[in-house]
Amino acid sequence: MTVTSDAADLSRALLPHLEWLRRAGVTLLPAVPGPSSLVPGPEPACANPGPWTEDPSPAAPAAGLDAVRREAEACTKCRLCEGRTTVVFEDGSREAPVMFIGEGPGAEEDRQGLPFVGPAGQLLTRILLAMGLRRDEVYIANIVKCRPPGNRTPEPDEVAACLPYLRAQIAAVRPRAIVLLGSVAARALVGPEVSITRIRGRFTDVDGIPAMPTFHPAYLLRNPGEKRKVWEDVQKVRDLVRSSRPDPLHDPPPPTPPPAPGESGPTVPGAGEGAEAGGAHSATGPEAR
Ligand code: URA
Repeated sequence: MTVTSDAADLSRALLPHLEWLRRAGVTLLPAVPGPSSLVPGPEPACANPGPWTEDPSPAAPAAGLDAVRREAEACTKCRLCEGRTTVVFEDGSREAPVMFIGEGPGAEEDRQGLPFVGPAGQLLTRILLAMGLRRDEVYIANIVKCRPPGNRTPEPDEVAACLPYLRAQIAAVRPRAIVLLGSVAARALVGPEVSITRIRGRFTDVDGIPAMPTFHPAYLLRNPGEKRKVWEDVQKVRDLVRSSRPDPLHDPPPPTPPPAPGESGPTVPGAGEGAEAGGAHSATGPEAR
């Protein structure tokens, strides 16, 4: 591929993202980044700052997420880029009614490029099944997209550098409910001082969306006696999603059958009503108890 066609491809890829930023009111992009780090330190070896300077608009279109993903995949805004194998951006459906937000990739996630595929992820998958949901019926993301070395907790400046990507994901997916898995997710999105033990189990607001803080599956692996609390929390999420008004994005109406000859056309009983949070699995769940 020639340099000219590379540049043309890049321009085409960037256009939707720039248009989105323009609509969000961003009129200037700096040539060099402002200090994003709360903890002064050396520039990461891979430093090559991306253009993120402001939180994206809540009206970000889902289509723009491809551009955000590409940007995250090239991101070098913090030192976590140095040790990553892959950037772990998302899994599941961008049309999902529920979004699960964890902390950051572990070893297996870093290898596969998908969130929640290691031991904690397997427990999350079982919790989802208990809610009557498959992984491809929810949207899954993390606070930081690159694995912290040795699975340490991400530093505040790493969270701050990565958060605009997550805000863009929330804005694009616009789920009906969010589940905040663990204290890193809760602190990043609710407040830096909150305690997960205190706030879990009650809905709070994240970017205008009801968000349920609960314990992280990795914590449950170490403290299986706490599973019951998480099961109670996610049942509230399941109930909220079931009871919330169907919306055309998440619940497209079923196709209307063509009218039989001589008829004006049947009505579809219950069309758009009682929609489940995707899937019709039984919602019993010993694994999450
Ligand atoms: N895997 C993830 O993707 N996120 C976590 O928070 C933990 C494990």
